[in-house]
Amino acid sequence: MTASTSSVLKDSLNKTTFSFDESQRTALFNQVKTQHGLLFAADIKALCAQYTITHDELLRACLPVASLFAVAPISHFLVGAVVVGIDCDDAINFYFGANVEFAKQPLSLVVHAEQSAINNAWLKGAQTIVQIAISDAPCGYCRQFMNELADAEKFDILLPDQQFKLNQLLPHAFGPKDLGNNYSLFNPAPQTQTFEANADIDTALTKLALTAYVPYTANYSAVKITTFDNGCFYGCYAENAAYSPSLAPLQSAISQLHLAGLSMNDTTVKSIELLQTKGVENQLHVSESVLASYSNLPALIAYSLALIKTC
Ligand code: THU
Ligand code: ZN
Repeated sequence: MTASTSSVLKDSLNKTTFSFDESQRTALFNQVKTQHGLLFAADIKALCAQYTITHDELLRACLPVASLFAVAPISHFLVGAVVVGIDCDDAINFYFGANVEFAKQPLSLVVHAEQSAINNAWLKGAQTIVQIAISDAPCGYCRQFMNELADAEKFDILLPDQQFKLNQLLPHAFGPKDLGNNYSLFNPAPQTQTFEANADIDTALTKLALTAYVPYTANYSAVKITTFDNGCFYGCYAENAAYSPSLAPLQSAISQLHLAGLSMNDTTVKSIELLQTKGVENQLHVSESVLASYSNLPALIAYSLALIKTC
């Protein structure tokens, strides 16, 4: 064994890492569930004071809590991720995420924990990502998904015992600029279009679809899942320069529903609506495949609307 290997081992063995006991973990899980996958700046401050721990210790201790949100009927491998993001009031919040699998459907439909947490931060208004903590090493697909982010060169990636920059995990990367796209997820091109009017469609859904990050297909698309007793959950389409790690709007919405501790079943879900851009639709069949994973859900309602230039 070389000297440097042995000191790395010694460091990791000597390290005392803070972790929540089971009842503390359950209490925090319930709090995050109630807050739909979020810990606010005030919660973070209170938890650090309550347990006398640093921000990074709390962040890592939240990973087993994030994993509790995973829905993994195929692998039973529960992955948790937490994005540390700054919102428009300059508050630093924790945005939770976990993997979602779709039984009896192609494996490629999966939502990875990192995607779920980044999507959560995006939909809940984070402006800047400063850290992404993950319970396990990120796979190649997630490294590629993270490379689409505006802060890809800056944020830290925290694993339970290590810390990296994305370029250490993804050297010689392929990204948006390779396709001539100077924008990125969290720094999209200004929107210069709006949808044609349609009184049947919720304006929150049309407004959200217009914020989709779709530089490669221009299919501004979003999904609304209406529940019987717990309000509505929205998802938005986020594309990737390498195409495959794109996050579909339905998976985005389902992941949001799970982060509130709810399930995709007929006692919870009242309706599912998909809005796409007329002429460039690409989400209908993939959404139907995802929904075929569940039984007795209401049929998908799909809308296509034309875009009109606003300036
Ligand atoms: N998984 C993640 O969520 N993130 C990764 O980067 C590694 C893999 C999930 C996907 C799937 O649900 C399960 O772990 C097994 O691959
Ligand atoms: Zn992954």
